[in-house]
Amino acid sequence: MKISVISGSPKGDLSVTLQYVKYIQKKFPLHEFSVHHVGRFVNRIEKDRAYFDSIIDDVRASDAVLWAVPLYVFLVPSQCKRFIELVWERGAKEAFEGKYAAVITTSIHFFDHTAHNYLRAISEDLGMKFAGAFSPDMFDIMKEDERARLLLFAEEMLEIIEKRRPVTREFAPLIAGGFDYEPSPAQASVDPAGKKVLVLADGAKQGNLGAMIRRFAGSFAAGVEVADIAELDMRGGCLGCIKCGFDNICAYEGSDGYIDFYKEKVKKADMVVFCGEIRDRYLSARWKRFFDRGFFNTHMPMLSGKQMAFIISGPLRQIPNLREILTAFAEWQNANIVDFVTDEDADSRAIDAQLSALAERLVGAARRGYVRPAGFLGVGGRKIFRDDIWGRLRFVFQADHRYYEANGLYDFPQYDEKAIAMNKTMMDLTSNPEMKEKIRKTMRENMVAPLRHIVETH
Ligand SMILES: Cc1cc2nc3c(=O)[nH]c(=O)nc-3n(C[C@H](O)[C@H](O)[C@H](O)COP(=O)(O)O)c2cc1C
Repeated sequence: MKISVISGSPKGDLSVTLQYVKYIQKKFPLHEFSVHHVGRFVNRIEKDRAYFDSIIDDVRASDAVLWAVPLYVFLVPSQCKRFIELVWERGAKEAFEGKYAAVITTSIHFFDHTAHNYLRAISEDLGMKFAGAFSPDMFDIMKEDERARLLLFAEEMLEIIEKRRPVTREFAPLIAGGFDYEPSPAQASVDPAGKKVLVLADGAKQGNLGAMIRRFAGSFAAGVEVADIAELDMRGGCLGCIKCGFDNICAYEGSDGYIDFYKEKVKKADMVVFCGEIRDRYLSARWKRFFDRGFFNTHMPMLSGKQMAFIISGPLRQIPNLREILTAFAEWQNANIVDFVTDEDADSRAIDAQLSALAERLVGAARRGYVRPAGFLGVGGRKIFRDDIWGRLRFVFQADHRYYEANGLYDFPQYDEKAIAMNKTMMDLTSNPEMKEKIRKTMRENMVAPLRHIVETH
């Protein structure tokens, strides 16, 4: 069989993910794997139509497409996202239709599931049949049992394709809106009380999104700045070179406007409102580029304490995966999401009211300094970073290590002297069967007692 490999890493042949494909290729020599470095060469693909067409021709001649993509900021790298957009923009969907698709990503398992949801949904939107997904830790291939597991995955994937097995569809097709939002004039009445509101948009002027932004920004009496990332000088996407790891100095430093913009505008804002149109099942590739480039902050919560909101044109309610990504982005940073406003209600007056309320609520939350506690998305995500920065990634991400130490982010149990002492006492006590039984019976009362005490005395 012939498998077309869409390699999404900007590192091309140096991609970690690609090594997993090469291993499969080596162990299944009867099949042909043709690799296309769409992540590495997306600029050329964008400019050179014949090059793009040659990739699409190869897909057309294949039995299946294997997405081999690293995790970048909850999803695929912006370069890979752009390639996916081009497939639709250039009407190349038919080359994928009816074929099988499979996914291999590598990552540290920080939101690998949201990238996988995206890639499966995209494959299904392209009319492909899903033959499986594999999400190893980036270094798994070093271990014998994990290599064996990879080959078992490959065996099943190839069998599904070869036998043309029927497969299930996981994600429902998206239903487009088709509503024109017509805002009524805003009151310019919300006083941000000296706080800065930054409205970041891709396409701040056109369509429903442009109208929503005008209405929202017009609600403020002062203090609001609208910046269009389409006009921001971003020379390219994150290259994955990790030059930022030691001191947060990006490879692009001094050569485009992104880092200064991020430091001057984004970091200094009290409220950041992200605005975009849904393109396939995420925002635009340009938005993805903006988020990926933010990686020069490596794993530090640089937007901590900020108020955030999202103004989105498109079917967000049909894409819970995207909502999860945006929520997780805010939560792991210890930022507060005030709301998501979309044009899905298809009612201009209702949207007017939601946007005005959003302006008021943002300012209220900023005044109160409220950040809602992170749930599983933020708490779980932070623990992955904490463990890996403390451990195997410390050398590479030295700036993170310094920050985590200085800011108490290494909240491991071994530093908790009180817990260690308490565990020791209680373990000793419960080694006595009578005492163990007694404690078992009073567990509920004993657990709540200190909390009750706080409620009664504070
Ligand atoms: C900009 C950037 C963003 C990343 N984002 C994530 C992420 O969200 N989740 C994760 O688990 N790993 C993340 N990683 C780690 C990569 O997924 C991992 O190193 C991967 O193996 C790189 O594969 P590649 O060499 O094929 O590009 C990120 C790495 C970079 C450079």
